[in-house]
Amino acid sequence: MSDVEIIGTPERTVSRRKFIMGVIAAGATTSSVGYLFRGSTPLLGALPVQGSVERLVTLNVNGQQRRVDVLPQETLAMTLRYKLGLTGTKFGCDRAECGACTVLIDGVPSYSCSVLTHTVRRQEITTIEGLESDDGTLHPVQEAVLDEGGFQCAFCAPGFIMSMVAMVEANPNPTREEAAHALSGNLCRCADYNKILTSAMRAAEYARRRA
Ligand code: FES
Repeated sequence: MSDVEIIGTPERTVSRRKFIMGVIAAGATTSSVGYLFRGSTPLLGALPVQGSVERLVTLNVNGQQRRVDVLPQETLAMTLRYKLGLTGTKFGCDRAECGACTVLIDGVPSYSCSVLTHTVRRQEITTIEGLESDDGTLHPVQEAVLDEGGFQCAFCAPGFIMSMVAMVEANPNPTREEAAHALSGNLCRCADYNKILTSAMRAAEYARRRA
Protein backbone atom coordinates (compact mmCIF):
# COMPACT_ATOMS: atom_id res chain seq x y z
CA MET A 1 0.00 0.00 0.00
CA SER A 2 1.37 3.42 -0.86
CA ASP A 3 2.04 5.84 1.97
CA VAL A 4 -0.16 8.60 0.53
CA GLU A 5 -0.67 11.86 2.40
CA ILE A 6 -4.34 12.27 3.05
CA ILE A 7 -4.99 14.80 5.75
CA GLY A 8 -3.91 18.32 6.59
CA THR A 9 -1.77 21.18 5.38
CA PRO A 10 1.80 20.57 4.14
CA GLU A 11 3.11 21.33 7.64
CA ARG A 12 0.66 18.97 9.33
CA THR A 13 -0.01 16.05 7.05
CA VAL A 14 -0.93 12.55 8.20
CA SER A 15 -0.35 9.61 5.90
CA ARG A 16 -3.04 6.95 5.57
CA ARG A 17 -0.58 4.37 6.88
CA LYS A 18 0.07 6.49 9.99
CA PHE A 19 -3.65 7.05 10.47
CA ILE A 20 -4.40 3.31 10.34
CA MET A 21 -1.38 2.69 12.58
CA GLY A 22 -2.87 5.03 15.17
CA VAL A 23 -6.17 3.19 15.08
CA ILE A 24 -4.86 -0.33 15.29
CA ALA A 25 -2.08 0.23 17.79
CA ALA A 26 -3.60 2.72 20.20
CA GLY A 27 -7.21 2.96 19.13
CA ALA A 28 -6.83 6.65 18.39
CA THR A 29 -9.65 7.01 15.90
CA THR A 30 -12.68 9.14 16.56
CA SER A 31 -15.43 7.63 18.66
CA SER A 32 -19.15 7.63 18.17
CA VAL A 33 -19.55 8.26 21.87
CA GLY A 34 -19.46 12.02 21.30
CA TYR A 35 -22.73 11.94 19.48
CA LEU A 36 -24.14 9.16 21.61
CA PHE A 37 -23.66 11.32 24.69
CA ARG A 38 -24.78 14.52 23.02
CA GLY A 39 -28.39 14.13 24.05
CA SER A 40 -29.67 13.83 27.56
CA THR A 41 -29.57 10.02 27.67
CA PRO A 42 -26.16 8.45 28.17
CA LEU A 43 -25.38 4.96 26.94
CA LEU A 44 -26.92 1.98 28.63
CA GLY A 45 -24.70 1.00 31.51
CA ALA A 46 -23.56 4.53 32.27
CA LEU A 47 -26.56 5.46 34.37
CA PRO A 48 -26.40 4.60 38.04
CA VAL A 49 -29.56 2.73 38.98
CA GLN A 50 -31.16 3.89 42.19
CA GLY A 51 -29.85 1.84 45.07
CA SER A 52 -26.96 0.32 43.11
CA VAL A 53 -23.48 0.77 44.46
CA GLU A 54 -20.07 0.42 42.91
CA ARG A 55 -17.95 -2.47 44.05
CA LEU A 56 -14.22 -2.79 43.74
CA VAL A 57 -13.25 -5.66 41.45
CA THR A 58 -9.99 -6.85 39.96
CA LEU A 59 -9.88 -7.49 36.24
CA ASN A 60 -7.18 -9.19 34.22
CA VAL A 61 -6.80 -6.86 31.25
CA ASN A 62 -3.99 -7.26 28.74
CA GLY A 63 -2.00 -9.30 31.25
CA GLN A 64 -2.31 -6.72 34.04
CA GLN A 65 -4.38 -6.82 37.21
CA ARG A 66 -6.58 -3.70 37.12
CA ARG A 67 -8.60 -2.73 40.20
CA VAL A 68 -11.68 -0.72 39.39
CA ASP A 69 -15.02 0.26 40.95
CA VAL A 70 -17.92 -1.03 38.86
CA LEU A 71 -21.70 -0.84 39.03
CA PRO A 72 -23.69 -4.10 38.93
CA GLN A 73 -25.21 -3.15 35.55
CA GLU A 74 -21.98 -1.76 34.09
CA THR A 75 -20.86 -3.23 30.80
CA LEU A 76 -17.29 -4.22 30.05
CA ALA A 77 -17.10 -1.71 27.20
CA MET A 78 -17.98 1.11 29.60
CA THR A 79 -15.39 -0.03 32.12
CA LEU A 80 -12.66 -0.44 29.53
CA ARG A 81 -13.23 2.90 27.83
CA TYR A 82 -14.25 5.22 30.64
CA LYS A 83 -12.60 3.78 33.73
CA LEU A 84 -9.50 2.08 32.39
CA GLY A 85 -8.86 4.50 29.51
CA LEU A 86 -8.69 1.73 26.88
CA THR A 87 -10.43 3.69 24.15
CA GLY A 88 -9.34 1.37 21.36
CA THR A 89 -12.52 -0.57 22.08
CA LYS A 90 -15.27 1.29 20.21
CA PHE A 91 -18.97 1.79 20.76
CA GLY A 92 -21.07 1.51 17.63
CA CYS A 93 -24.56 0.19 18.32
CA ASP A 94 -24.28 -0.65 22.05
CA ARG A 95 -26.72 -3.51 21.40
CA ALA A 96 -24.70 -6.53 20.22
CA GLU A 97 -25.14 -5.91 16.51
CA CYS A 98 -22.05 -4.25 15.00
CA GLY A 99 -18.98 -5.80 16.65
CA ALA A 100 -17.12 -2.49 17.09
CA CYS A 101 -16.70 -3.28 20.79
CA THR A 102 -15.21 -6.76 20.23
CA VAL A 103 -12.57 -7.85 22.75
CA LEU A 104 -11.23 -11.30 23.56
CA ILE A 105 -12.43 -12.97 26.75
CA ASP A 106 -10.32 -16.05 27.37
CA GLY A 107 -9.45 -15.87 23.67
CA VAL A 108 -13.06 -15.80 22.50
CA PRO A 109 -14.26 -12.73 20.57
CA SER A 110 -17.03 -11.11 22.59
CA TYR A 111 -19.18 -7.98 22.35
CA SER A 112 -18.02 -6.02 25.36
CA CYS A 113 -21.12 -3.78 25.17
CA SER A 114 -23.17 -6.82 26.13
CA VAL A 115 -21.04 -8.33 28.89
CA LEU A 116 -21.42 -7.21 32.49
CA THR A 117 -18.02 -6.33 33.89
CA HIS A 118 -18.45 -8.13 37.20
CA THR A 119 -19.08 -11.43 35.39
CA VAL A 120 -15.58 -11.57 33.85
CA ARG A 121 -13.52 -11.02 36.99
CA ARG A 122 -11.74 -14.35 36.67
CA GLN A 123 -11.18 -14.28 32.94
CA GLU A 124 -8.45 -12.94 30.68
CA ILE A 125 -9.54 -9.88 28.75
CA THR A 126 -7.57 -8.72 25.74
CA THR A 127 -8.19 -5.42 23.99
CA ILE A 128 -6.57 -3.94 20.90
CA GLU A 129 -4.05 -2.19 23.17
CA GLY A 130 -2.83 -5.58 24.38
CA LEU A 131 -1.81 -6.96 20.99
CA GLU A 132 1.46 -5.08 20.58
CA SER A 133 4.52 -6.63 22.26
CA ASP A 134 6.40 -4.76 24.98
CA ASP A 135 9.16 -3.99 22.49
CA GLY A 136 6.65 -2.35 20.15
CA THR A 137 6.38 -5.24 17.70
CA LEU A 138 2.92 -5.30 16.19
CA HIS A 139 0.82 -8.44 16.19
CA PRO A 140 0.87 -10.17 12.76
CA VAL A 141 -2.77 -9.19 12.29
CA GLN A 142 -1.94 -5.52 12.88
CA GLU A 143 0.96 -5.78 10.42
CA ALA A 144 -1.32 -7.33 7.83
CA VAL A 145 -3.98 -4.62 8.20
CA LEU A 146 -1.31 -1.95 7.87
CA ASP A 147 0.13 -3.54 4.74
CA GLU A 148 -3.23 -4.11 3.09
CA GLY A 149 -4.88 -0.88 4.24
CA GLY A 150 -8.07 -2.83 4.57
CA PHE A 151 -10.34 -0.18 6.07
CA GLN A 152 -11.90 3.09 4.94
CA CYS A 153 -12.80 5.15 8.03
CA ALA A 154 -11.33 2.43 10.30
CA PHE A 155 -13.86 2.96 13.10
CA CYS A 156 -14.69 -0.74 12.99
CA ALA A 157 -11.03 -1.79 12.63
CA PRO A 158 -10.25 -2.62 16.28
CA GLY A 159 -13.26 -4.95 16.51
CA PHE A 160 -12.43 -6.66 13.23
CA ILE A 161 -8.79 -7.03 14.28
CA MET A 162 -9.76 -8.72 17.55
CA SER A 163 -11.92 -11.17 15.59
CA MET A 164 -9.04 -11.77 13.16
CA VAL A 165 -6.71 -12.52 16.09
CA ALA A 166 -9.13 -15.16 17.33
CA MET A 167 -9.51 -16.48 13.78
CA VAL A 168 -5.78 -17.02 13.17
CA GLU A 169 -5.48 -18.75 16.54
CA ALA A 170 -8.37 -21.13 15.82
CA ASN A 171 -7.72 -21.63 12.11
CA PRO A 172 -4.23 -20.62 10.94
CA ASN A 173 -4.94 -21.56 7.33
CA PRO A 174 -8.47 -20.38 6.54
CA THR A 175 -10.11 -20.22 3.16
CA ARG A 176 -11.59 -16.87 2.19
CA GLU A 177 -15.04 -18.25 2.96
CA GLU A 178 -13.91 -19.44 6.38
CA ALA A 179 -12.42 -16.02 7.07
CA ALA A 180 -15.71 -14.39 6.07
CA HIS A 181 -17.51 -16.69 8.47
CA ALA A 182 -15.04 -15.92 11.28
CA LEU A 183 -15.62 -12.18 10.77
CA SER A 184 -19.36 -12.38 10.29
CA GLY A 185 -20.00 -10.82 13.70
CA ASN A 186 -18.39 -7.55 12.66
CA LEU A 187 -19.97 -4.91 10.44
CA CYS A 188 -18.25 -2.23 8.37
CA ARG A 189 -20.29 0.90 7.68
CA CYS A 190 -18.13 1.63 4.64
CA ALA A 191 -18.78 -1.91 3.36
CA ASP A 192 -15.07 -2.39 2.71
CA TYR A 193 -15.45 -6.14 3.12
CA ASN A 194 -13.38 -7.24 0.16
CA LYS A 195 -10.28 -5.44 1.43
CA ILE A 196 -10.96 -6.49 5.00
CA LEU A 197 -11.09 -10.13 3.89
CA THR A 198 -7.85 -9.68 1.96
CA SER A 199 -6.33 -8.28 5.18
CA ALA A 200 -7.62 -11.31 7.08
CA MET A 201 -5.99 -13.70 4.61
CA ARG A 202 -2.74 -11.74 4.83
CA ALA A 203 -3.05 -11.85 8.64
CA ALA A 204 -3.25 -15.63 8.59
CA GLU A 205 -0.20 -15.76 6.32
CA TYR A 206 1.84 -13.47 8.63
CA ALA A 207 0.73 -15.41 11.72
CA ARG A 208 1.84 -18.71 10.13
CA ARG A 209 5.18 -17.16 9.26
CA ARG A 210 5.75 -16.05 12.87
CA ALA A 211 4.56 -19.31 14.44
FE1 FES B 1 -21.15 -3.69 20.87
FE2 FES B 1 -22.05 -2.75 18.50
S1 FES B 1 -21.14 -1.61 20.16
S2 FES B 1 -21.87 -4.82 19.17
